[in-house]
Amino acid sequence: MSSNIRNFCIIAHIDHGKSTLADRFLELTNTIPASKMHEQYLDMMDLERERGITIKMQPVRMLYEHSDQRFNPHQSALSSQNSLGIRNSKLEIEGSKYILNLIDTPGHMDFNYEVERSLAAVEGAILLIDATKGIQAQTLANLRLAREQNLTLIPVLNKMDMPAAQINEQKIRREIENLLEEKNILAISAKSGQGAKEVLDEIIKRIPAPVINETKPLRALIFDSSYDSYKGIIAYVRVFEGSIKKGEKISLLNVKKDAEAIEVGYFTPELSPQNELKAGEIGYIATGLKDSKLVRVGDTITKLKVKNEKLKIEPLHGYREPRPLVFANIFPSELKSFPQLHDSLSKLHLSDSSFHYETTSHPVLGRGFKVGFLGMLHLEIIFERLKREYDTKIILTSPTVVYKVIDQKNREIEIFSAQDLLSPEHVKEIKEPWVSLEILTPTQYSSKIYELLKQARAEFIETKNLTNEDVFLKYKAPLAEIIENFLDNLKSISQGYASFSYKLEEYRPIDLVKIEFAIVGEVKPSLSRLVPRQKADRIARDFLSRLKDNLPSQQFPQALQAKIGGKVIAREDIRAMRKDVTAPLYGGDYTRKKKLLQKQHKGKKRLLRDAHVDIPEEVYLGILKRK
Ligand code: GTP
Repeated sequence: MSSNIRNFCIIAHIDHGKSTLADRFLELTNTIPASKMHEQYLDMMDLERERGITIKMQPVRMLYEHSDQRFNPHQSALSSQNSLGIRNSKLEIEGSKYILNLIDTPGHMDFNYEVERSLAAVEGAILLIDATKGIQAQTLANLRLAREQNLTLIPVLNKMDMPAAQINEQKIRREIENLLEEKNILAISAKSGQGAKEVLDEIIKRIPAPVINETKPLRALIFDSSYDSYKGIIAYVRVFEGSIKKGEKISLLNVKKDAEAIEVGYFTPELSPQNELKAGEIGYIATGLKDSKLVRVGDTITKLKVKNEKLKIEPLHGYREPRPLVFANIFPSELKSFPQLHDSLSKLHLSDSSFHYETTSHPVLGRGFKVGFLGMLHLEIIFERLKREYDTKIILTSPTVVYKVIDQKNREIEIFSAQDLLSPEHVKEIKEPWVSLEILTPTQYSSKIYELLKQARAEFIETKNLTNEDVFLKYKAPLAEIIENFLDNLKSISQGYASFSYKLEEYRPIDLVKIEFAIVGEVKPSLSRLVPRQKADRIARDFLSRLKDNLPSQQFPQALQAKIGGKVIAREDIRAMRKDVTAPLYGGDYTRKKKLLQKQHKGKKRLLRDAHVDIPEEVYLGILKRK
């Protein structure tokens, strides 16, 4: 049976139309009845649909009847070897009905770990390119990931219904031919559906079927997971060898934990229980386990019986550990909610294993967590998901990168918040992370981009002309500069055409100072920031003005100050918002009006004496949000 299976992903730069093309596939294969179909069906979270972005990978199994009888899949589906070291055998084909397992992946680079994991579970990928935009930075980054897995690639030009796409078509075809050495490039409109069926037919022709290894002992790779209060942790798996039936005892090889497959099944995309999952298939195993540490992405599931027979079962090649780049502390807004926050984080971690968390504590905010994210969008999404899905009220401190502090005894300490900085006499040197940066842009915007890079303290490496119209820039830059507003600035100066990707490269020395912010004379430690000295004044002023805009209006004026080493370097005032206490008075009763205003003045004085401003959690994101 497994020769009738094709496992594939759609990979692309953000917004090039993956989810829209997936919608067409769901319709063409009648996976979703027309009455239930809606746009971006596989973006199953409200948050994804609201923002119009894919955050999580989503597997779906589709049944498709292939109409073209002329081709011979024995010839076209060539043998290939993926990173798991499994070579595809010669294929046998039965009839023209196919099982197509699609994993829809996110496009934004903060969610690249989702892409990496999806790619290890399939044999091929559609490389989708918005022909109005052409090849962009994430097209290249995702292509690189797919090549590392030795996947068969099908390049597809999308949005061909748009005039700009038709104008660009020949140029982009040349670029793809250079990049992939592939001349067979499809051109479609995912929106209208034109050409979508041909893509399905090409998937069957060009992407190799998975190997048939049902007789070997079970080896299934966990590529994702979720939590169900009845079925426990649900492991999303690609079965590489053997098979697993409902009710069989299983063993998780790396964590060395035994459990029972209390349910097995496919994604339709909802969970659809079945009796058995076999080699070559993508599906799920409900483990009944409740502890998130036991079911780890990248682990291999085998049968307990196999383990007991002492057969030597090697775990499959897992995944690299994701490396968080941006860190922030989060605290429950009420001290007693710490266990609830802990529980929420561990459940969320099951559906997003790319963030890192560990406990920490703060003199004012109490017990909380130090959390590492893959980027600023990732941080915003986790913050939002915690609030929505787990109904958890949290306080989030300023996000920052990890600095390395070398002390006087040459010991290296990693710090990521201003609160962790040792007193200056103990510090010998501080180093900050630098990334290598790749930017793809139409040539006409390059001079403005050079200017932006200069402001970001970036260092030139090389430029290459892709075509006469497009240029590829390679730079190194401090990560702290890149996570701030770089992407938004790049998009606005290039009218959305330039794109970039980055990778952690090295640590370099930096002259860092700690800025503290005081509201009505009271320093708020959770607002303190570590910044490069040369930028301290500008950052302090900018931060104060954002703080002023975001803090709720008060009944009395308040001073906001930025300080370095106790010395005030910038100041702002929140205006008093005068509540119109005289509003109910008609006409010109001047004396009553005056009396009321005097009463209000007294009230303000009293408030001022015990002035204390709490910072609402929204303010943190308001201040930190990219403009
Ligand atoms: P991420 O997963 O967030 O990276 O986005 P995506 O690649 O899934 O893109 P999505 O399918 O959300 O499409 C992005 C936008 O492009 C949406 O507004 C779609 O309606 C539009 N779009 C997608 N395909 C086509 C097409 O063929 N023609 C036109 N005109 N618009 C399209």
